[in-house]
Amino acid sequence: MKVTVVGAGAVGASCAEYIAIKDFADEIVLVDIKEGVAEGKAMDLMQTASLNGFDSTITGSTNDYSKTAGSDVAVITSGIPRKPGMTREELIGINAGIVKTVAENLIKYSPNVILIVVSNPMDTMAYLAHKATGLPKNRIIGMGGALDSARFKFRLAEALDCPQSDISAMVIGGHSDTGMVPLIEKAVRNSALVSEFLSAEKMAEVVEATKVGGATLTKLLGTSAWYAPGAAVSELVRAIALDSKKMFPCSALLEGEYGLNDISIGVPCVLGKNGIEKIVEVSLSDTEKEKLATSAEGVKKTNALLQA
Ligand code: LAC
Repeated sequence: MKVTVVGAGAVGASCAEYIAIKDFADEIVLVDIKEGVAEGKAMDLMQTASLNGFDSTITGSTNDYSKTAGSDVAVITSGIPRKPGMTREELIGINAGIVKTVAENLIKYSPNVILIVVSNPMDTMAYLAHKATGLPKNRIIGMGGALDSARFKFRLAEALDCPQSDISAMVIGGHSDTGMVPLIEKAVRNSALVSEFLSAEKMAEVVEATKVGGATLTKLLGTSAWYAPGAAVSELVRAIALDSKKMFPCSALLEGEYGLNDISIGVPCVLGKNGIEKIVEVSLSDTEKEKLATSAEGVKKTNALLQA
């Protein structure tokens, strides 16, 4: 499998690193517009191969998309990240143009590519990628829910004082501070609902900490996070590479699922060699349905800015 990662900033480099370490890809190409940065990070990562025990090759390119030709999967991380106090939505003006150009360049050289969109505001950028490229909907995946679910599991394990591996939980909805819908009523420690162990107040705290997970890190770091975003992307790429049919919440173009249309938003998806192989409609409580509907309204408002 050949994987391209566009954007060799912190998130893109972290994607490339985790994909390399997991050793399922033959070839990883990093692309950036800043002269030499992708080449430098690729070389630095290649020098970890004997240390970390992987055989994937990593090369870098300054904006030469011919090097990405024949990619099976391409990850778009390009654009500006948020600064402390900024919402993901505020990045739309600059990032929309970048994401559109990058998607078009990728498809020119890899007509069969599956795109994973990471740039923010992610759900709107994934929607834009659909509109700009007209690719079949299974081949555009927005990465947000896998990351938000990992942050949710971290917060749940912290509250329960248990290992994260005990937890199974999912965040659906938009990848934004107000749009995320952590499915706390369905979260379990092994098979037991977390409500068996946590008070309603504690559960509300976990939900709130999850929703502002990215903002909390942006405040601490001065820019947006990269390790968990990179790891989350690498898991989606691995599910495609191995045709594993694992389920992750991803931003998918909906055509009636969950009562939503003409929107890309986080819902459970089965990933395999064809990208999104199935959108899974789990039953939601009335509260969950209401939260998802409100989240969708928020994403649609941001989508409307694309025409502005
Ligand atoms: C975050 C960015 C990647 O949530 O959206 O950290």
